[in-house]
Parts: sequence; structure tokens; C-alpha cells
Amino acid sequence: MFSHAVRPTSSLARSLSRSLSSSSPNHAKVAVLGASGGIGQPLSLLLKNSPLVSQLSLYDIAHTPGVAADLSHIETRAQVKGYMGPEQLGAALQGCEVVVIPAGVPRKPGMTRDDLFNTNATIVATLVDACARSCPGATICIIANPVNSTIPITAEVMKKHGVFNPNRVFGVTTLDIVRANTFVAELKGLDPARVNVPVVGGHAGKTIIPLVSQCTPKVEFPAEQLSALTARIQDAGTEVVKAKAGAGSATLSMAYAGARFTFSVLDALNGKEGVVECAFVRSEETECKYFSTPLLLGKNGIEKNLGLGKLSAFEEKLVGDAVDELKGSIKKGEEFVAKMK
Ligand code: NAD
Ligand code: LMR
Repeated sequence: MFSHAVRPTSSLARSLSRSLSSSSPNHAKVAVLGASGGIGQPLSLLLKNSPLVSQLSLYDIAHTPGVAADLSHIETRAQVKGYMGPEQLGAALQGCEVVVIPAGVPRKPGMTRDDLFNTNATIVATLVDACARSCPGATICIIANPVNSTIPITAEVMKKHGVFNPNRVFGVTTLDIVRANTFVAELKGLDPARVNVPVVGGHAGKTIIPLVSQCTPKVEFPAEQLSALTARIQDAGTEVVKAKAGAGSATLSMAYAGARFTFSVLDALNGKEGVVECAFVRSEETECKYFSTPLLLGKNGIEKNLGLGKLSAFEEKLVGDAVDELKGSIKKGEEFVAKMK
């Protein structure tokens, strides 16, 4: 159950300042796969800026020598190394504790996230296959869409190698939480860094389920405003895709969200207590095999799934409405790997 005694980490700034004041020895080697992309570059910049990262391994099929040379001049401790092309992928992953994967194509206006499946399924399966071979114990954080299918793909590929650890495979849904916090704060005149809205389910349209009834601080909205707020959170990715008008999808806010999630994973690996993030993971909380809920993170990845908590009638219906689509996306990912040679 979601316990208000264990408050989710609510801002990157707080996570960073907490990490800076921590006396624990932080030696994590982190890899970003897709490091030259719209998300990959600003995400790598944020990771380079963190004292939690000692080595930063940047892999892509293009441009990583330049990105790595550029970032390596920044006066922070993380040693940056660039790797380019499949023949360097194994070396990029060697010894990594955390691997973050934003590699893949983004949406254009009019596309759903599922329209990315044909291209991104192969990219994710190939990269995860390399993780299974080169760093099988690493924590894997998947940003590439469609997350509702790329996480089952990740799990199935890891299973093929006999190294799937459900506590260490995460679909990064943090951007949904970041957006929900921002939109609620805007409507209520609050500091967004102090707002925390759990967002459960998956990461596409109606599978994105904000639990506004569990927001801290407690907030209330008339029914019509709550419906509009929920729809805005569910469609926020599309809002950015439309505004970018063919130039891709959210990159900067996603880099922020990806860094926030990675720092939470690293904080927990370093023994920090009470670190909670929502993420799309293998789950027993609903009839869906994978589902996002608040998770207590620790040295071994997921310490405890905090579950859905008490839902309002409105939220119960949102969960019910998401189940069929989620099951379909999960099955599609699993079948893709089953058919792989
Ligand atoms: P982008 O096109 O700007 O960057 C993608 C990068 O991946 C490029 O540098 C490309 O060279 C690289 N790449 C392609 N194939 C690769 C391979 N086989 N190995 C390594 N790298 C490879 O796209 P972007 O805007 O950074 O978005 C990346 C992905 O993240 C998309 O699938 C997008 O839908 C997804 N995304 C997810 C969320 C989320 O909340 N989880 C948010 C935003 C975007
Ligand atoms: C997002 O939520 O911004 C991402 O999933 C990218 C997209 O395609 O909307």
C-alpha cells in the first residue's frame, strides 16, 4: 500500500543537494545508450553534473566522440568516455551498475507511441541483449517508447539469457509524475517542487493514471476540473509533439525526469533510505503483468512495491479502462521476443 510516511522524492534539486551532502562513497558507473540524441545529450549533461556518477559511458550509433569530448571538459568528477557503433557496445557496458536507454525514434504529429514499436523494439532488444552479456547485474532504466512494450521486451530478452531480475528493470515514467506535479501546482498556486502526485499504470494515453486523491499536499478539484486535469496529464506528451511540429517529442523535460529517476536509483544503491519513485515494472498489484506503482527503492533495486493505495471511484474507473490496452501492449512486446531468432 502507498504509505504517506514514505514520501516520494519530489525534485531533482532536492535529490542533488541530498546527494552532495551525503558522506557515502559514490562510485557508480552509468551508461547512456542513445547518448547523442535529443534526450541523450541533456541527460548525459545532468549525469555528468552529479557527484553520484564516477564514470559516464556514452554509447550511440553516431556522434558520441564529439558529445563525450564536449562533456569531458566539465569540471566534475565523472570520467566521460564515448563509444560508437555495435562493435564498441560491449566495452561501453563493461562494469556498469546502471544503464539508461533513451535510444530509439521519437513520435511525429499524428503518431501514437505504439507506432514506434516496429523500429524501437529491435533497437531496445539489441541493446538489452548486450546488457545481458556485458553487465547482467546492472539496473536497467528504459526510456525508449513504447514503454508499455519495451519493458516486457527487456524482461524477455534478459530471461533468454537467464539473467532477468524483476527488481532491476524499470520503465521510466517519471515524466508523467513531473508533469502531474507541475500542472497541479499551477492550478493551486503551489511550489511544484513540493507537490507529489503518484502516477500509476503505464506510459501511453489512457494507461497514464494520475492519483490526484493521493497528492501531497492534499488537493481537491471539482469533478469537471479533475477530468480536464487528468486528460491533460495523459495527453501531455502529445501536447509537446504537436508544439514541436515534426521536430520530435519531449527531450529536455525527459532528460530532467530521466536524471531524477537515475539519481533516485543511485541514492538507493548508496544506502539512502525512503527513496520512492513510480516506474513501470513487473508487478502483482493488478491483473496486468507489468504496472507502474510507487516503489520503495534500495540497494537491490525494488525493496517493496507500495501498491496502488486507496483509490477514488474516479481512479478505480481509470485503472479499469487501462487494463485491456496495457495487456495488449505487454503481449505484443513478449510475442516480439518470442519470435526473435
Ligand atoms: P532522438 O532521435 O533525438 O535520439 C535517439 C538517439 O538514439 C539518436 O542519437 C540515435 O542515433 C540513437 N539510436 C538509434 N538507434 C540506436 C541504436 N541501435 N543504438 C544506440 N543508439 C541508437 O530521440 P529522442 O527525442 O531522444 O527520444 C528517444 C526515445 O525516447 C523515443 O523513443 C521517445 O519516444 C522516447 N521518449 C520517452 C519518454 C518517456 O517518458 N519514457 C519521454 C520522451 C521520449
Ligand atoms: C512523452 O510522454 O513525452 C514521451 O512518451 C514522448 C511521446 O511520444 O509523447
